[in-house]
Amino acid sequence: MLKTIIEPFRIKSVEPIRRTAPEERRRLLEQAGYNLFLIPADSILIDLLTDSGTAAMSTEQWAAMMRGDESYAGSSSFERFRASVQNIFGFRHIIPTHQGRAAERILFSVMCRKGSIVPNNTHFDTTRANIEFCGAQAVDLPIPEAHEPSTLHPFKGNMDTAQLEKLIEREGRERIPLVMLTVTNNSGGGQPVSLANIRAVKEICARHRVPLYIDACRFAENAYFIKLRESGYANKTPLEIARQIFSFADGCTMSAKKDGMANIGGFLGTNDDLLAQQEKNLLILTEGFPTYGGLAGRDLEAIAVGLNEALDEDYLSYRIASTAYLGEHISRQGVPIVQPPGGHAIYIDARSFLPHIPSAQFPGVALAAALYVTGGIRSVEIGTLMFGEHAAMDLVRLAIPRRVYTQSHIDYVVEVILEVWHRRAEITGLEITYQAPFLRHFTARFRPLGPSASRRDPARAADP
Ligand SMILES: Cc1ncc(COP(=O)(O)O)c(C=O)c1O
Repeated sequence: MLKTIIEPFRIKSVEPIRRTAPEERRRLLEQAGYNLFLIPADSILIDLLTDSGTAAMSTEQWAAMMRGDESYAGSSSFERFRASVQNIFGFRHIIPTHQGRAAERILFSVMCRKGSIVPNNTHFDTTRANIEFCGAQAVDLPIPEAHEPSTLHPFKGNMDTAQLEKLIEREGRERIPLVMLTVTNNSGGGQPVSLANIRAVKEICARHRVPLYIDACRFAENAYFIKLRESGYANKTPLEIARQIFSFADGCTMSAKKDGMANIGGFLGTNDDLLAQQEKNLLILTEGFPTYGGLAGRDLEAIAVGLNEALDEDYLSYRIASTAYLGEHISRQGVPIVQPPGGHAIYIDARSFLPHIPSAQFPGVALAAALYVTGGIRSVEIGTLMFGEHAAMDLVRLAIPRRVYTQSHIDYVVEVILEVWHRRAEITGLEITYQAPFLRHFTARFRPLGPSASRRDPARAADP
């Protein structure tokens, strides 16, 4: 067996990336208030901020875009989009939206009211914020292993079904308009959910007559993990597994910016005719007519093709192997990561990486700043900054855009992380100087802590 991981595609069009000096990066970081969201993208060498909307599209997607029908109503691009989505997801109503959070906002506006409770394995930040914006409560019910970064578990994204049962019995089904499952569990480390768990959650929901919705962003990666790790699925295709996943759901929200292989787009799926009508009415108010939902016809075409490319086995095996390669090469040298490596990202456990920085001083933000100054890498904190007191861990996520970076880029990332690891004792914490009332991580600004900014500045500390 040949071991080298190769990209199952060749490159037809290239985009230069700019090298910067550590001095320039330190200055940019200071100007950005130590928030990597506020650094201009052309000053980033390897951008692992997100795998969302950052994929490279294929020749087939670009070709399909030329067929885009930009008619306001009844566009044939919408018909192709709906056929492609229904072939995989199977829901009766497919409502296009400009991205995942628009689907969330519409779903929760229609289903939730003040005092409602929505359980999930782990809510993503926009999901939680949209629920709370309706006056409802977002409750995370991951299995206990999800909170133990170094514990190995094949399906660490699973929901704790005993806790779900207890919650429904305690609060009453009237307060719980829906249960959600996020596949893969992004905020919990990009970990997959097993089909056995999805079936068990559905069984509880059905018994209490509560609908089950799936946050489907990374459905193809989750399906591939099921194929690799769950007994009975080795000979099934990712498409067959994906169909089984959605057969247990009453609806879904989807950001096509992930496993839709598109740069924008999403949708809301449901089997409920009445809900679909209410959702389409809201859609018209804020997104657009139900045959385009805030997207151009060409975007619908790109998603229609991309969803199928995301289920290609050659692609999925390369994707999962490449992410695991990054995780294994840093963890072998002692870098603490969420184990096992997830599908779309590697999550460094910043609390263990920087045990001398308390959570209140944002170890994840300090580590992300150090990775930027050392190697021009952009990552994102998923921890105390993002979730406040709800944060069970302080993680730094290195999300890998789909089909964008090569193995040599990944080798460079490994080298930079190990450089920072060797100098970790010099990194110090930060304090917030500005924060927005919600989703504060996008715009928060920081000041490095310590008597002498030059010694305690996390950026300087990690400078090679
Ligand atoms: C699990 C999960 N749900 C929802 C979303 C929101 O999707 P969007 O960014 O398209 O609004 C994301 C985006 O990263 C996500 O990872």
